[in-house]
Amino acid sequence: MSNIGPSARVVARRVLKRVESGSYATLALSAEMQRSRLGEKERRLATELTYGVLRNRSRLDRALSSYARKGLKKLPPGVLLALRVAAYQILFLERIPAHAVVDDAVTEVRRVAGTKLGGFANGLLRTLVREGEPELPPGDDLDSVMARSSLPRWLAELLLDRVGADGLGRAAEAMLEVAPLSLRVNRKRTTLEALVERLQDGEGAHCEASSLYPWAVDVSSLGSPEHSQSFSDGLWTVQDQAAQLIGAMSQAEAGGNVLDACAGVGGKTTHLAELGLGLHIDAVDLSKKKIALLEESVKRLGCEGITTHVSDSSRDDAKLASDYDLILLDAPCSGLGVLRRHPEAKWGPDKSPQIAELVALQVRLLDAMAKRVRPGGVLLYSVCTFTSAEGPTQIRDFLERQPSFEMAPPVSGGASDVEWGGLLSTDGSFESWPHANSQDAFYAARMRRR
Ligand SMILES: C[S@@+](CC[C@H](N)C(=O)[O-])C[C@H]1O[C@@H](n2cnc3c(N)ncnc32)[C@H](O)[C@@H]1O
Repeated sequence: MSNIGPSARVVARRVLKRVESGSYATLALSAEMQRSRLGEKERRLATELTYGVLRNRSRLDRALSSYARKGLKKLPPGVLLALRVAAYQILFLERIPAHAVVDDAVTEVRRVAGTKLGGFANGLLRTLVREGEPELPPGDDLDSVMARSSLPRWLAELLLDRVGADGLGRAAEAMLEVAPLSLRVNRKRTTLEALVERLQDGEGAHCEASSLYPWAVDVSSLGSPEHSQSFSDGLWTVQDQAAQLIGAMSQAEAGGNVLDACAGVGGKTTHLAELGLGLHIDAVDLSKKKIALLEESVKRLGCEGITTHVSDSSRDDAKLASDYDLILLDAPCSGLGVLRRHPEAKWGPDKSPQIAELVALQVRLLDAMAKRVRPGGVLLYSVCTFTSAEGPTQIRDFLERQPSFEMAPPVSGGASDVEWGGLLSTDGSFESWPHANSQDAFYAARMRRR
């Protein structure tokens, strides 16, 4: 273990430093992994340290500061970072000997800030090893939940607003969990059983089929998709189960004309094409780069019937039809529903002002789409976030502004691949939650133009 720990710790600290300067953890981690050429065990430890610190950052700071007479505020960033990585190992990873953790952190603090702060780090971490974490507050009030689940106040307040005081503790705690890697089976090219066999026997992965969607599978020990032959062969796509359920929720009809108004890199566009319904899909995004990636996926997966456009869907003069059978509006949003995968979002700036802007953009997109659905056609709105403003409140206001639309929840049974009962709220909208069904926190509403 002793020659595993230090290099994994160095990588984790480098990644965390990049994240502090605004990088996404996934990108920073993959760049540092490539640079350092760690072995498999070390890679796993570096990943665990990086994400462990990001998930539990304020809880680690609370423990450290309770033994630091002058608090942590004035410490140089490199020192604080080394202390956090050490505190995570001391409090959460029993398998690593505490003396090795302390020695490594003290060496790092000496390196970045000199012997005096090295001595301070030594005393502080030894006290943490001896005394342990000060007891966490057990209550369900906002402050106690924030302390236990390492949530900043702005985020805890948004969650409280959506789930209420009764659900807050459970919802916040589940957001600390590690989310699985989910794949969508390309049904045009293979079956779930055949893909699972190939991934397990041929590529050393471990698979677990979804209980929610028959084309979804959770995978571990797979490594990077680019190195997987079955990925290159176009047999699957990485996609969260909740996102797959949104594609399934479209319940598109054979031969229909479809607009994917915010297609991004095409996660949902290719899903719709894979349904094998002979759909004609216009896939639109503002970003040329994303449309280029979408086109690559279309080729890899062998999808047909997709026409791409780099365009602003909210504009009345966009060169799009005005009588679509189905419009999918997977709107730009605050993305807070995937905190399990991107815990660094907790420590960036308060997103509330940005959310207000996103809500206004969603209104513009919704109203523009309302004009492009044919009477009797469907508008499916979705977001990968849990804020009320971007989800239920947004749709309540839309239905008030646009009385020609009504909720049209997806139907279970028949050709449906999904039992929708447990996934829909009383008004028929879709919700997924880490605490309710181990999925990311998404919201979607399927509406029909009368
Ligand atoms: C949530 S992402 C879409 C994800 C995608 N549907 C998927 O499943 O892979 C939202 C996308 O909306 C795009 N977007 C934002 N404003 C837009 C606009 N006015 N017109 C078209 N696309 C827009 C963004 O570039 C971004 O790719």
